[in-house]
Amino acid sequence: MMNQGKVDVLLGLQWGDEGKGKVVDVLTPRYDVIARFQGGPNAGHTLEFEGQKYVLRSIPSGIFQGGKVNIIGNGVVLAPDLFMEEAKALEASGHELRTRLHISKKAHLIMPTHRLLDAAYEAQKGKNKVGTTGKGIGPTYTDKVSRNGLRVGDILENFPEKYAAAKARHEAILKSLAFSVDSQEFAEVEKKWLEGVEYLRQFPIVDSEHEINSILRSGKSVLCEGAQGTMLDVDFGSYPFVTSSNTICAGACTGLGIGPNKIGDVFGIMKAYCTRVGAGPFPTELFDETGKKIRDLGHEYGAVTGRERRCGWIDLVALRYAIMVNGVTKLIMMKSDVLDGFETIKACVAYKQNGQQIDYFPYNIEEGIEPVYEELPGWQTDMTKFTSEDEFPEAFKNYIRFLEQQLETPICIISIGPDRAQTIERK
Ligand code: GDP
Ligand code: IMO
Ligand code: MG
Repeated sequence: MMNQGKVDVLLGLQWGDEGKGKVVDVLTPRYDVIARFQGGPNAGHTLEFEGQKYVLRSIPSGIFQGGKVNIIGNGVVLAPDLFMEEAKALEASGHELRTRLHISKKAHLIMPTHRLLDAAYEAQKGKNKVGTTGKGIGPTYTDKVSRNGLRVGDILENFPEKYAAAKARHEAILKSLAFSVDSQEFAEVEKKWLEGVEYLRQFPIVDSEHEINSILRSGKSVLCEGAQGTMLDVDFGSYPFVTSSNTICAGACTGLGIGPNKIGDVFGIMKAYCTRVGAGPFPTELFDETGKKIRDLGHEYGAVTGRERRCGWIDLVALRYAIMVNGVTKLIMMKSDVLDGFETIKACVAYKQNGQQIDYFPYNIEEGIEPVYEELPGWQTDMTKFTSEDEFPEAFKNYIRFLEQQLETPICIISIGPDRAQTIERK
């Protein structure tokens, strides 16, 4: 596992929070460089090892093992204040970052006014709001595409002027939306943000596309870490209840500046069930005791906002779609231990729409979708201390075979708990 001279891409296949952070950390020793290619501090990637727990937002999850170079790519949107907070906490716990955390000059900056705009647009949507993380993601990517954004490279030259102009533009929009801003509070946030900009200057600010391509030319390997998940992709997710970036594999090409022919394996991560935070359709959502049981056992509360995650059964229709648009070569299944005590387990194998059974993912999943389930026997075995697949009970082996058949893709890693050590690689 690991392709020399190539980038392998690891990304979420559901609505985020699949466990990407944990697996990137596990795989880090096999790669030379780890790189994030999209998203921003809307992400919360959790890692646990040696009794410690970390939640990363903008810093790649390859920062802990083996002193590897980690890159924040051009496709990422970066909030200097939140970045400073995150990086200082890591430095305080003894992790050296300043030489090996490289930041692309072309990554866009999330300004304090972007967060206000995020809140203003959500308020304007009323009951149709997306339920964003409030981190200014949408407005920052909007400014990027409308050619009004500020980039990390901008902090190196005439920054105060550029910042003032962008801020004035945002203030005019906020005024037109009649969004009231507490000026005292804003001044404090802005002060910290500007401190964050100064802090950012202490890191290598690089042309990351050149860096990554020369690493590949020298035969080294790169692991790209996705954020969010395929069903939150701005093109292919459950639009408009999505994030504002391309979370799919193609996002690694645009978010790092690598050609598609440089992509090796595409690791697709899924939970053994399914969750979603925020608003929007979720065909297999459970509103009953089973949903609550999954939430309790899986500790399904958001790593960024602390919101309850909506829970449901695994959706193979959505997963087949996700595997298709990403070109997934290998699957990784997370949180199987959460289902350890279940008598039976359901998997959605098709949808019924307007009385007709369909097995493809349709344009509109907002209304009239009824999941068609297949029920499988649970394994009812505590697997959290297993160290090899040979220990798997027959019913669990059967569940794996069923998923591999349905998804036509091999499952190469199975996660049986949050800790780094609770990871089983299949032969
Ligand atoms: P990410 O955003 O994809 O990195 O995932 P999150 O960190 O937001 O959410 C995954 C949560 O599940 C975190 O709290 C992890 O510590 C936890 N986790 C990861 N893998 C497993 C697993 O196999 N079993 C259990 N029980 N928890 C896991
Ligand atoms: P990780 O990387 C789960 C969701 C939000 C909201 C929608 C848009 O930890 O898997 P945004 O703030 O991006 O404009 O919000 O996307 N969302 C996530 N859900 N995991 C994430 O990241 C998410 N990042 C955004 O809840 O529904
Ligand atoms: Mg998360």
